[in-house]
Amino acid sequence: MAQPEQFAQGLSIGIIMDGNGRWAKKRGLPRTAGHKKGAEVFQDITRYCNEIGVESVYFYAFSTENWSRPVEEVGAIMRLFGEYLIKAFDYEKENNRVVFLGDRTALEPRYQKLMDEIEQKTAHNTGMTLNVAVNYRALAEKVAKGELRPEDIDEAAMCSEMYTHGQKDPDFILRPSGEKRLSNFMLWQAAYSELVEMDVLWPDFTRHDLDLAIEEFNRRTRRFGGI
Ligand code: IPE
Ligand code: IPE
Ligand code: MG
Repeated sequence: MAQPEQFAQGLSIGIIMDGNGRWAKKRGLPRTAGHKKGAEVFQDITRYCNEIGVESVYFYAFSTENWSRPVEEVGAIMRLFGEYLIKAFDYEKENNRVVFLGDRTALEPRYQKLMDEIEQKTAHNTGMTLNVAVNYRALAEKVAKGELRPEDIDEAAMCSEMYTHGQKDPDFILRPSGEKRLSNFMLWQAAYSELVEMDVLWPDFTRHDLDLAIEEFNRRTRRFGGI
């Protein structure tokens, strides 16, 4: 059988980290326990993607809609996010280029500062690009909600909104937890992404599950409108 390094080389993968709450509920734990485990899985899967030669990965960590959750849950997610920013990652050693997608101005100033620092520090790294989408909402959705008029979408608006500027669009978007929707994730860049949904909750997600997802993607035939 082919090794993961052989079939993951150069891929761009979007990952909607979903199912933390259900994972916790199944165990009679508070939802925040699911987020904690999910954050650990995030770290492990990031390392794995790097090891097997993935070119870029886009993690969906927090959407603009997620602010509607109970304030304690939002607070717990933000604290976890901050924790990971501060200590859990050895950005230098990993050689990842880290990019944060989304409107960071709604986050605590000290987190914003760390995000800027991490991006600057890793900007010239030559390994995988690790994108983390936080307070992320796609441009298309702002237009749909009337927050942005189509005529106001000039190139500058596109570029600033396209936080992913210059990067490869995701070859496939993976959604664990069995849901079959994008929930506003990368609506523009997903135009031709294959969707791979998996019946595993994110905190249970393993390296082997990623192998399976990549295998599934590699079985798909992409036609891009051709025949
Ligand atoms: C994903 O897990 C994490 C975030 C959205 C921040 P959920 O918290 O959505 O977990 P479920 O979908 O309720 O199981
Ligand atoms: C999508 O998950 C957002 C993230 C994983 C960060 P949600 O759990 O918020 O999505 P819905 O509400 O099920 O569509
Ligand atoms: Mg969910």
